[in-house]
Amino acid sequence: MRHLTEISDFSKGEIYTILSVANDIIANEGSFVDRMKGKVMATLFYEPSTRTKFSFESAMHRLGGGVIGFSGTDSTSVSKGESFEDTVRTVACYSDVIVMRHYEQYAPMKAASYSQVPVINAGDGGNQHPTQTLTDLLTINQSMGRLDNLKIVLVGDLKYGRTVHSLVKAMNKYENNKFVFVSPSELKMPDYIKESLDEGSYVETQDLDYGVKEADVLYITRIQRERFEDKNQYEKLKDVYILDNLKMKKAKEEMIILHPLPRVNEIAKEVDADPRAKYFDQVKYGMYVRMALLLKLEELRGE
Ligand code: NCD
Repeated sequence: MRHLTEISDFSKGEIYTILSVANDIIANEGSFVDRMKGKVMATLFYEPSTRTKFSFESAMHRLGGGVIGFSGTDSTSVSKGESFEDTVRTVACYSDVIVMRHYEQYAPMKAASYSQVPVINAGDGGNQHPTQTLTDLLTINQSMGRLDNLKIVLVGDLKYGRTVHSLVKAMNKYENNKFVFVSPSELKMPDYIKESLDEGSYVETQDLDYGVKEADVLYITRIQRERFEDKNQYEKLKDVYILDNLKMKKAKEEMIILHPLPRVNEIAKEVDADPRAKYFDQVKYGMYVRMALLLKLEELRGE
């Protein structure tokens, strides 16, 4: 049995299969309608979510499966003092796959060690967000036609933003990708991510204009308010980068803008009409790629 707790749990070959299956689903959704019939997915969300939770739930419904779960633990026995381990063991008795988001780093990895069914990490603290990365890979591949030979410019909260950590790890598997990390000095990409990259494959800057000019993929992120201990620091940094049409004048014709969403102020609404803005396509791809992931984990479970 396999879990997806971080993106490196899957080989490049397996990621390729998931993206191909997602493509098949997009082309021919009707033939997938009962592929998970009789199966139950549990969503254990200890932290808020819109896209990740609903896209997983919609994915399971569209495959003919059922969904149970919680958003916040107030109405569960966690509020009576039940341990994390007991909650996971209990839910694993009722479900065929568990999707977990948690405010603590590594919680889904811990859950995987207690669970009799596959565990999917839907975001653990400021650490990783592997299914957002599958979404991002599908969107990049659909829009740019490739996953290699790209300059990927990541902007914003690179310290606490879990989506960028997983995305860099994944894009580093493909040939000749280069990275530009645009952040204020307080929110730089963590060393453990930079150390996993080849020397010369990334640059760090505070200059958004430079990033916009260089990008094949411009990946904007929100400053992660909930992770700041010092709220004054958040206030100081929250609007440090705002992408608008004026800034986009410097961008290449053939490039895309991605954002995992939710957006706060970091992309002006006027940019939405730019054909290079792909963040709402990204939302849709997220559902298809999660359908493909659920099928893949079910298949691996049978092996
Ligand atoms: C992201 C997350 O939860 O990490 N959202 C998402 O899943 N699409 C990004 C964020 O919250 O900024």
